[in-house]
Amino acid sequence: MRLILLGPPGAGKGTQAAQLVERYGIPQISTGDMLRAAVRAQTPMGLEAKACMDAGALVTDAVVVGIVRERLQQQDCAQGFILDGFPRTIPQAEALKGTLTALEMPLDAVVSLQVETNALVERLTGRRTCRNCGRGYHIRFDAPAKEGVCDACAGDLFQRDDDQAETIRHRLEVYHQQTAPLEDFYQAESLLKKVDGMAPIAVVQQQITALLQVI
Ligand code: AP5
Ligand code: MG
Ligand code: ZN
Repeated sequence: MRLILLGPPGAGKGTQAAQLVERYGIPQISTGDMLRAAVRAQTPMGLEAKACMDAGALVTDAVVVGIVRERLQQQDCAQGFILDGFPRTIPQAEALKGTLTALEMPLDAVVSLQVETNALVERLTGRRTCRNCGRGYHIRFDAPAKEGVCDACAGDLFQRDDDQAETIRHRLEVYHQQTAPLEDFYQAESLLKKVDGMAPIAVVQQQITALLQVI
């Protein structure tokens, strides 16, 4: 299964990808997670990316295309993968198409999560992430048993730097300008599948797995 999860910030890409990883045993490739790891490790790429990420702007196409191209050639992607947060611009989508054609690994589907803007803001402001294992939570919609503590590993939960109201607004603008056109791009390739992302987490997962069964 070779899949792209498309959708605005807070649509549930990471949440759904984590469950699909469990279900299908294929890796999640999240450019956001990879960039945040590079920032933490203070690599040259991380240092360059940090300013863009803190501002809610996109990191340059060349940087993200490079890291994804490298990642896709690793052994664990041979059985499939779930791209989360990539591609995000038409040039990234074109580059991905070239890479996957060369690797003879065509995409099976592009799942686009449809969520209203008000809900996105509420999801992002209430999001918490485990510092240790990376599991995502929401203070209302997916709360841990004990506030501030990860159910899975007892790690402490933190709020992402870019989940501040002002930065969220800018990320949403960037999405509409640069990423939303990818729906038409993948519609033209007959790969686009729209899913109602407003439903509860488990229901969205059911909708995705149901449509993957018939492709
Ligand atoms: P990235 O990390 O990709 O962030 P994003 O696209 O803004 O998306 P999020 O991770 O915020 O949202 P999500 O859809 O994963 O939602 P989640 O599942 O967590 O990118 C960050 C930055 O890195 C970018 O701004 C850019 O600078 C850079 N970058 C990354 N990729 C790049 C690229 N390709 N090119 C250039 N730059 C790039 O859910 C959110 C919350 O909602 C959680 O609390 C969750 O519990 C809750 N929730 C989820 N689903 C539901 C539901 N159905 N009902 C209720 N609550 C729900
Ligand atoms: Mg995410
Ligand atoms: Zn954890």
